[in-house]
Amino acid sequence: MRACKVTEKIYALHADIETEDLFEGIWPIPDGVSLNSYLVKGETSCALIDLVRDWCKAPDELCKQLASIDVAIEDVNYLILNHMEPDHTGWLAEFKKLNPKVVIVATAKALELVKSFYKIEENLRAVKTGDTLDLGGIRLVFEEAPNLHWPETMVTYEPESGTLFSCDAFGSFGKLTNRIFDDEYYSEDLKNFEDETLRYYANIVASFGIFVKRAIEKLSKLDIKIVAPSHGLIWREKPSVIINRYLKYANYMDGPREKEVCVVWGSMYGNTRDGLEYVLKGLEDEHVPYTMFRVPNEDVSFVLAEAYRCEGIIMAMPTYEYKMFPPMGYVIDIFERKHIWNRKALRIGSYGWVGGAQKDYDNRIAPLKWEHVEPLEWAGQPDESTGKLLRERGRELARRVKG
Ligand SMILES: Cc1cc2nc3c(=O)[nH]c(=O)nc-3n(C[C@H](O)[C@H](O)[C@H](O)COP(=O)(O)O)c2cc1C
Ligand SMILES: [Fe+2]
Ligand SMILES: [Fe+2]
Repeated sequence: MRACKVTEKIYALHADIETEDLFEGIWPIPDGVSLNSYLVKGETSCALIDLVRDWCKAPDELCKQLASIDVAIEDVNYLILNHMEPDHTGWLAEFKKLNPKVVIVATAKALELVKSFYKIEENLRAVKTGDTLDLGGIRLVFEEAPNLHWPETMVTYEPESGTLFSCDAFGSFGKLTNRIFDDEYYSEDLKNFEDETLRYYANIVASFGIFVKRAIEKLSKLDIKIVAPSHGLIWREKPSVIINRYLKYANYMDGPREKEVCVVWGSMYGNTRDGLEYVLKGLEDEHVPYTMFRVPNEDVSFVLAEAYRCEGIIMAMPTYEYKMFPPMGYVIDIFERKHIWNRKALRIGSYGWVGGAQKDYDNRIAPLKWEHVEPLEWAGQPDESTGKLLRERGRELARRVKG
């Protein structure tokens, strides 16, 4: 693939990662993910913004795309590192060997990580909010954006074209192929990116929602015409779409959220699943939409994305060795880490002799501060009277979700 022109002086380079490997070692990427970098060519020098990791031949792709615009690694004068996570810096030591004179530009905190991760001590330039880099006829401005996604993060802005190099912020899962701009996609393809943006947000960024809001507020002072993140599409036709989408996601943390229910269920032999059917009828009675996820069959990455946007959650699981069905423990742990707080919820499940899942659940769910409808457990198969009660519980949850 060739580098793509974003403006006369800015080029986008990207490596599409398609692998069974998990992003951050946790999150599946069935549609891949892109690692985007940008080359800014001034009259006197040029800067590369964000690097790649040695993953699925991404460094080869970067070199090839640079070569397509007659730039060799040694020609890069400045390497700007907005964020130190290894998806954007993993190849740094090798890059530095090929280009020992390159000046690495990053926040002071990031440069500490350059030293500890890559043992590079020379040609480091620390920048802070408002600092600029003049490349001759084009100028870059830096803005610290702590915790978007790590504490050392910053964004880079090019005022003439209004391009914001936002790194992880405004990013998405999903490979790009040779179409990198929002206006190169039909609306149904964009819908797929939208789903992958939500999943990326919920998986990667959700813990830092408050900082996303803060950053968007700060960045609103800038005249942003192009959003150029380090994963996913470049937004040049409608940059406000991705900015507003991120703002909406950040607001899901405290609400309002979608008036829908995320149903998470696990069952060994079908008794809990049978009981759940009645609850779903209750949701349908009240016309509240729901989406179901069976664990552990479906990856928690997808469960999390849906739970993130929904006001209501159902947790359905049987008792297993006097506690919850084990995969639910992991789901709750991830929910806690990713701030799935203050939901309207219902827990149900079957047991064999004395149960135990509810007590375990109550202990583990407490930090999330969910408002629960009265839970319901039953022995073995649900009978008709249990079914009636379950349906009523479903209705009750639906009413609370609707507010
Ligand atoms: C490995 C295993 C462990 C279980 N542990 C308990 C338990 O500690 N307490 C209990 O009341 N029932 C226990 N049960 C019984 C199940 O909770 C019961 O069969 C329930 O109906 C299963 O629901 P399901 O069909 O949705 O999987 C256990 C069952 C299995 C297979
Ligand atoms: Fe990151
Ligand atoms: Fe990243």
